[in-house]
Amino acid sequence: MSREAPPILRLQDVSLTFRTRAGAVRALNGASLAVHEGEAIGLVGESGSGKSTLARAVLGLNPERSSRIEAGRILIAGRDVTRLSQAEWEGARGHPVAMVFQDPLSFLNPIMRIGRQIAESIERHAPDRRVEERVGELLALVKLPPSLARAYPHELSGGMRQRALLAVALACEPRLLIADEPTTALDVTTQAEILALLRDLREQLGMAMLLITHDLGIVSSACERLYVIYAGRVLEWGRSQDVFGAPAHPYTVGLFQAARADRDAQGRFATIGGEPPDLGETAKGCPFAPRCPSAMAECIQSMPGVTVVGEAGSHAVRCWLYPPAQDAAATAGHVFGS
Ligand SMILES: Nc1ncnc2c1ncn2[C@@H]1O[C@H](COP(=O)(O)OP(=O)(O)OP(=O)(O)O)[C@@H](O)[C@H]1O
Ligand SMILES: [Mg+2]
Repeated sequence: MSREAPPILRLQDVSLTFRTRAGAVRALNGASLAVHEGEAIGLVGESGSGKSTLARAVLGLNPERSSRIEAGRILIAGRDVTRLSQAEWEGARGHPVAMVFQDPLSFLNPIMRIGRQIAESIERHAPDRRVEERVGELLALVKLPPSLARAYPHELSGGMRQRALLAVALACEPRLLIADEPTTALDVTTQAEILALLRDLREQLGMAMLLITHDLGIVSSACERLYVIYAGRVLEWGRSQDVFGAPAHPYTVGLFQAARADRDAQGRFATIGGEPPDLGETAKGCPFAPRCPSAMAECIQSMPGVTVVGEAGSHAVRCWLYPPAQDAAATAGHVFGS
């Protein structure tokens, strides 16, 4: 992994608003993160914290009419893609970034055979490839038998559908795979199989991964670094071992405690006390302050800057319990987790 090259993905202070009948929803509020070539990164946070919105923003998949990136930049391999038009996205989609979702059925075409769907993805993104041969290679890569090329999505089990969707995504030969809750809908055994497959694919293809999950256990075993998001803001990030070893933000502490104490059948967090934030309000301070057991007056007044809490660059937090250094330059390099 080269730290000289630009990260494969960088979000710089991205704010995104949905227009709804009930008013504006600020789903991302200055979110920043970086994924370097070959890295496995986790993105965790409660339901509604903006994880899927962030992932979709990278690929221009949020509804064009009702969503707007108000501020910030999204860079893919150094290229600014923040305001790509839909047509430009069509050309760029899946390359060098591809995405798989929690529910493969909502993405796979129900009336098209799996092999054809993989072939279309190849034709769109890697047209110089010999398509039939490549379909076979991709099925083998995701450990599906060649005969599955002739199957329709509804004929497959949940785990097989997720593999088929992965094959469609990998047809683009992505350098970054964004996986949004790829195993949440699966039983525990199938979950483990898909996670093992993702690990193998990363090793084999050298691709980076942004793994979105409720399951902190998955993050600790599969991801080198993680970002913790709440109300569209990244509140803490760092090397998995450092954040798990010494979570700094009270929200992260709450997530970890809740995960240890009580998981439901889907492996989701037990809720932290208090109500999730109202994203219609543009709070000046830390969005977690109303629920935070350690909240102080300044937490309601303004959002703190970045404080490095671990050794150089390995762990950082935005929380008034850890006042930012006076020397902004000292922390600037860590703002995006680089
Ligand atoms: N298309 C949309 N129109 C309006 N609001 C939306 C839309 N998509 C998401 N939101 C809102 O944006 C906020 C963030 O949602 P998002 O789906 O990104 O959360 P999430 O972290 O992925 O949650 P989950 O863990 O449940 O998948 C929520 O308040 C959600 O209701
Ligand atoms: Mg989501």
